[in-house]
Amino acid sequence: MKVPPRISLATLPTPIVKLERLSGRFGVEIFLKRDDLTGLLESGNKVRKLEFLVGEALAQGADTLITCGTLQSNCCRAVAAVAARLGLRAILALKGDKPPSYDGNLLLGKLLGAEAVYCTPEEFARIDGVFDRLSDDVRRRGGRPYVIPESGATELGAVGYLECAHEIAGQITHGAPAFDTLVITAFSGGSQAGLLMGKQLSGLSAEVVGVPVAHPAAQVRDYVGATIAKASARFGLAVERPKSVHLLDGYQGKGRGASRKEELATLIQLAREEGILLDPVYTGKAFLGFLDHLARDPKEFGSRVCFLHTGGIFSLFPFRDALSRLLDGDPLVES
Ligand SMILES: Cc1ncc(COP(=O)(O)O)c(C=O)c1O
Repeated sequence: MKVPPRISLATLPTPIVKLERLSGRFGVEIFLKRDDLTGLLESGNKVRKLEFLVGEALAQGADTLITCGTLQSNCCRAVAAVAARLGLRAILALKGDKPPSYDGNLLLGKLLGAEAVYCTPEEFARIDGVFDRLSDDVRRRGGRPYVIPESGATELGAVGYLECAHEIAGQITHGAPAFDTLVITAFSGGSQAGLLMGKQLSGLSAEVVGVPVAHPAAQVRDYVGATIAKASARFGLAVERPKSVHLLDGYQGKGRGASRKEELATLIQLAREEGILLDPVYTGKAFLGFLDHLARDPKEFGSRVCFLHTGGIFSLFPFRDALSRLLDGDPLVES
């Protein structure tokens, strides 16, 4: 394997816990892999990707990390945290106007010293041009930029989840259940692509299922296949493009900008039933899809299924109004 150097950023291995009451409710064993606990600020699925992406940045002598995302991007916050930890600069190209006050991930990114550049939707749609301009600015000031595309979605970022599959295989060897299925939230599909590569390389038998939370399933499926092909070619990995990519479609809701009542209600219910917080933008949507399928057929994912919690809870706070309305007297969340 010719993968660039990995640096250690995440607290690994992350624990696997059984969701006892949820398991009882559906009559199958349901587990959670706590990738929300890969760290505090450098946390969620992004930090596994950043171990490789920032490893490459440092190997290239970069001193400035440039990335992009929404105002509440988890990736931007994780990049800001990693940059501060390593003594690098971070520049975040954010989709939207500068808000009157900072909140959630953006507040943390600013506290961590990242520079925010606000982009119109038109600029954001041509983000490569923004990256070029920001990189030129850095070079003019004598710095060395390294660009991390949105969500760390490259074949190198995906290697973080290839390693996660090895980690799960190791945990199974040491007594964790041999899961029939792993379920993961899919934005780009990069994390799912990594798991699918790791499954082939580690001999993990679990089916890997993604739940798209923003893009159409066909787009995620293409991205997953293309990422595996690129990683195999670039790093000499003995992996094949899978014949099919298993996705639960129909849970994108309103995309990343807004959350629907049923997604927030799912999140509140899991908090109360198991003491676990999901996030409203990614894992809350995916978990709703997962539960919806379980409700229709509890055995759809076999008798032991593990949902990978990919983090993101700081974006709960900007949803305080919608959550407060639900918490104050909506019968849906009291049931
Ligand atoms: C909390 C959370 N979960 C899941 C994802 C999806 O990751 P991927 O782009 O690898 O599909 C993201 C990406 O933005 C995220 O922030």
